[in-house]
Amino acid sequence: MDRYAVLGHPIAHSLSPRIHGLFAAQTGAALSYVAIDSEAAALAETLARLHTEGYAGVNLTLPLKVHAVALCSELSARAQAAGSVNTLIRHESGWRGDNTDGAGLLRDLQHNLGCKLAGQRVLLLGAGGAARGVLQPLLDAQPAELTIAGRTPWKPEDLAAEFKDRGALRPCTFLALKGDRYDLVINATSAGHSGATPPLPPGIYASGGRAYDLSYGRAAEPFLARARELGAVQVFDGLGMLVEQAAEAFSLWRGLRPETASVLAALRS
Ligand SMILES: NC(=O)c1ccc[n+]([C@@H]2O[C@H](COP(=O)([O-])OP(=O)(O)OC[C@H]3O[C@@H](n4cnc5c(N)ncnc54)[C@H](OP(=O)(O)O)[C@@H]3O)[C@@H](O)[C@H]2O)c1
Repeated sequence: MDRYAVLGHPIAHSLSPRIHGLFAAQTGAALSYVAIDSEAAALAETLARLHTEGYAGVNLTLPLKVHAVALCSELSARAQAAGSVNTLIRHESGWRGDNTDGAGLLRDLQHNLGCKLAGQRVLLLGAGGAARGVLQPLLDAQPAELTIAGRTPWKPEDLAAEFKDRGALRPCTFLALKGDRYDLVINATSAGHSGATPPLPPGIYASGGRAYDLSYGRAAEPFLARARELGAVQVFDGLGMLVEQAAEAFSLWRGLRPETASVLAALRS
């Protein structure tokens, strides 16, 4: 039986064991997938142990995604662009790091929710690890505009400077958004975990504008409620992205893409 694990700290709340269990049942795969608590300081030792024990793959969540980069023997192009890894694939000599978050977001937005990005005005809120991980796929989707706004001004500026050769990206503070209008606003901040929401000005949603929060459950509620008040016609949480990034990891490990709609429906119910 192939063995997989998700590492993070804390990890008890993780939905990944349930998601991969549903993928395994659906595809008839004989595998185990467990959650293991690991702090950043213990990550090197934990990954070495899992490799010795024969684990075939590992997922990483907060706060380990950036820390794990230095522990990979090789990195995919999208992991290099993201500067973080959420999926490790076993190699004889170590772990190959990949990042499936951006692909998961794009698949949820475009395939599941029918949000086209090409030619649209898109605003990305936050400049942390998740924002960095989704920037390249968002640029590749060729929006008319992509603005990145954050509360610490130098962070969006640093990201825009880093990505300047990969597409047009405008860095901005929340205050400077006054007067802007967007077709899609994506919240990649962690504000909702403390009941807060980034301060957006009235008029930020264009006619027919939509809101997407990478968070899900309670953490997505403040941003999505505020988006409705500000005129967004549709609001979405990030549970679909969670399932899609997991499906992408599963297909990297097993060479088989699971069907996701039934898994998402099971989680929502
Ligand atoms: N659905 C999925 O599959 C998925 C995948 C990855 C991440 N996520 C979610 O995405 C969110 C961000 O994760 P992350 O890894 O990027 O975290 P992170 O690296 O800690 O970054 C958090 C970002 O949020 C900003 N922020 C925090 N509180 C804020 C507030 N009150 N107002 C405005 N900005 C605030 C931070 O700004 P400063 O830099 O100024 O502190 C930073 O830019 C989390 O909720 C996470 O659960 C979901």
